[in-house]
Amino acid sequence: MSLLIKNGRIITATDDYTGDIRIEGEKIVAIGLAGQGLPAGSGSSTDAGGHGPSNGSRLPANADTVIDATGLLVFPGGIDPHVHLEMPFMGTFSSDTHETGTRAALFGGTTTVIDFVLQTQGHTLHEALAEWNGRASGTAVGDYSFHMAVTDFNDRTRAEIRQMIEEEGITSFKTFMAYKGALMIDDRQMTALMQEVRQHGGLVTVHATNGDMIDYLIAKHRAEGKLSPRYHYLSQPEVTEAEASGRFADIADYTGCPGYIVHLTCEGALNAVRNATRRNQHLFVETCIQYLLLDDSLYQEDFEGAKWVMSPPLRKKKDQTTLWAGINQGLVNVVATDHCPFMWKQKLMGEKDFSKIPNGHPAIENRMELLYSEGVHKGRISLNKYVEVACTNPAKIFGLFPRKGTIAPGSDADLVLFDPVKKHTLSAATHHMNVDYSGYEGWELTGKVQTVILRGQVAIDKNKCLIEKGYGQFIKRKKVGGNI
Ligand code: URP
Ligand code: ZN
Ligand code: ZN
Repeated sequence: MSLLIKNGRIITATDDYTGDIRIEGEKIVAIGLAGQGLPAGSGSSTDAGGHGPSNGSRLPANADTVIDATGLLVFPGGIDPHVHLEMPFMGTFSSDTHETGTRAALFGGTTTVIDFVLQTQGHTLHEALAEWNGRASGTAVGDYSFHMAVTDFNDRTRAEIRQMIEEEGITSFKTFMAYKGALMIDDRQMTALMQEVRQHGGLVTVHATNGDMIDYLIAKHRAEGKLSPRYHYLSQPEVTEAEASGRFADIADYTGCPGYIVHLTCEGALNAVRNATRRNQHLFVETCIQYLLLDDSLYQEDFEGAKWVMSPPLRKKKDQTTLWAGINQGLVNVVATDHCPFMWKQKLMGEKDFSKIPNGHPAIENRMELLYSEGVHKGRISLNKYVEVACTNPAKIFGLFPRKGTIAPGSDADLVLFDPVKKHTLSAATHHMNVDYSGYEGWELTGKVQTVILRGQVAIDKNKCLIEKGYGQFIKRKKVGGNI
């Protein structure tokens, strides 16, 4: 099957031109400047990586299906490297499954997600992986991969690290410096894990907040009868994140292991990274769309604030400014979501005690459109930067590039055809995520996903999903060198 996308404005992390894209099967095989025909021989191999259109002999200008993309932007499929699908957490499960979550992601222009497998105390990484494979395999609609969260690092786990990287294509390992008594590991385990991961060419990612300080502040607020969602926020002040981010950076530098800080939210933490990166270590930073757009004014004394109970919590407006600047400075490499949705009924588990509110908020479907509208349309970031942080950097950092994350001959034909002027309103009544509220209810956006192509198949067109559950593939990832 061949597919031709004509006359789209093709945007990559480095290019911007109007052209035609020819797809055969699951791959892009040729790209040409509009009106000049398609060059033959520019690559039908899997060795992608070409930049922009090339010259040479011409391919025929017909195909089984032709899509006219005049007036549309063409982006690489979005990659969200931080999602929690059907994750057991705080006495319940996040409400999107691999089916509903990856389908909602596709509606929003995200074609690949990286979900988290959680090791449980006393169990192996392989046991955890089997459990997650059981949930995702045959049910995912969009493509997915896994990070492996290590919560119990021991000699048996040590031996499994190499197997995960070499045999399973899982090259990144998640750690938690918080959630004391549940997911948190100490610095002893962190150091040993990093040494092992480094040896085999992997990367360690981290939830970097000081778990002991937070544990103390939660207990203190509860003892004082301060139980509303606002005290979730007040139990995780900026210093808890700044301190842990700097500590993680130091351990990563000492061990020589590439590091990645997930959901970084604030000025103090970014300054710790800024200092650390003077050493030229491989330390990457992810923020999430909510930290760029929402702030702590959402936490009042009533229970409404539970919608945004997440860890770390939303911060101040000055932190948003720091994060947008960090993106433009190249210090913040990725904009993800930390999608971890819970139904309102689940949030009510913490109605009388903020520490029992399941942490997380829904955004997998909204990231690309929010970032376009609030970032590109409002002039905060360029189109190329948009693609860099939403598609290309996640692919490069996590070993998916150039198969994913760009538009080039040989890459997977994962594409988003985007209408840059269409206005629409976000609402739980119209979204596809399996959650009964929206963190962005009533937000009016400019720019909307029109068509999404996943490995050569039209997956979404005009707000309809055209592929079935089970189409989504587990994508094995390559080793990561630490350079992007
Ligand atoms: O509140 C959050 N972030 N929930 C998901 C788990 C995590 O910490 O990433
Ligand atoms: Zn986290
Ligand atoms: Zn998370």
